[in-house]
Amino acid sequence: MKDLIHRAAGDLVRSTNAVALTGAGISVESGIPPFRGKGGLWERFDPMEYAHIDAFMKNPAKVWDVLIKEMKGIIDNARPNNAHKGLAKLEKLGILKTIITQNVDGLHQMAGNTDVIEFHGNFAWQRCMECNNRCETKKIDIGQIPPRCECGGIYKPECIFFGEMIPPQYLRRSEMAALACDTILVIGTSAGVQPAATIPLIAKQAGAKVIEINLERTPLSKESSDYIILGKAGEVLKTLTTEIERLLNI
Ligand code: APR
Repeated sequence: MKDLIHRAAGDLVRSTNAVALTGAGISVESGIPPFRGKGGLWERFDPMEYAHIDAFMKNPAKVWDVLIKEMKGIIDNARPNNAHKGLAKLEKLGILKTIITQNVDGLHQMAGNTDVIEFHGNFAWQRCMECNNRCETKKIDIGQIPPRCECGGIYKPECIFFGEMIPPQYLRRSEMAALACDTILVIGTSAGVQPAATIPLIAKQAGAKVIEINLERTPLSKESSDYIILGKAGEVLKTLTTEIERLLNI
């Protein structure tokens, strides 16, 4: 595996416009559970019952009580791990330009990346469904469920629920980044949820190299990946950035 990582590092050093697509797996080492696979949230919860917009609108108290309250407890305390820090380092080195993330945890920004497209929105803010007032999730009082704004309206996280549309400007910017990049790092995503899963395919068709980092193979591995690095994102990124710094004599 080290040899594979070293070859990927060689490609990244030559890259002038790399992009990363990240998913839940990159935040697992920060203590945030993934959605699918071992220990995944969707093993415990039916996403159609707790993460679909219709379910939230029908019974916001239930969704807040079971899923959002738990997510708040985990995300409020999560910190970037070596994978987030590695991507921040790649931006500082001028290699990585943009991160497209399916995650809502804000850890890429906390690690220091400045151009992050939050494809599925973010959990850092809540919006009142009546008056549109925004409140930081950290400051939300969960003494009453569902939490309410001063106007009496219910707060909803600024995440994209199943059944909601990806904001068109995020989709457009992501597609443009994919078309323009020369390398795409695909980290910790099962590559099964559309339209995010098509981003690496767009990049590949436009001539980019695809470096996939995951614990296991995904549908993307066979179709598009030039490098399939099987391992924990934090450990792989640590080795990868160390090798890049060695190649750059830093
Ligand atoms: N390092 C690298 N990869 C990991 C690690 C780790 N430490 N832990 C888990 N993985 C991999 C798993 O093997 C899996 O392929 O991360 C992937 C996580 O997949 P999902 O849970 O499906 O996450 P993601 O692809 O981001 O899901 C997409 O689905 O339900 C929705 O809206 C939710 O944004 C989410 C979307």
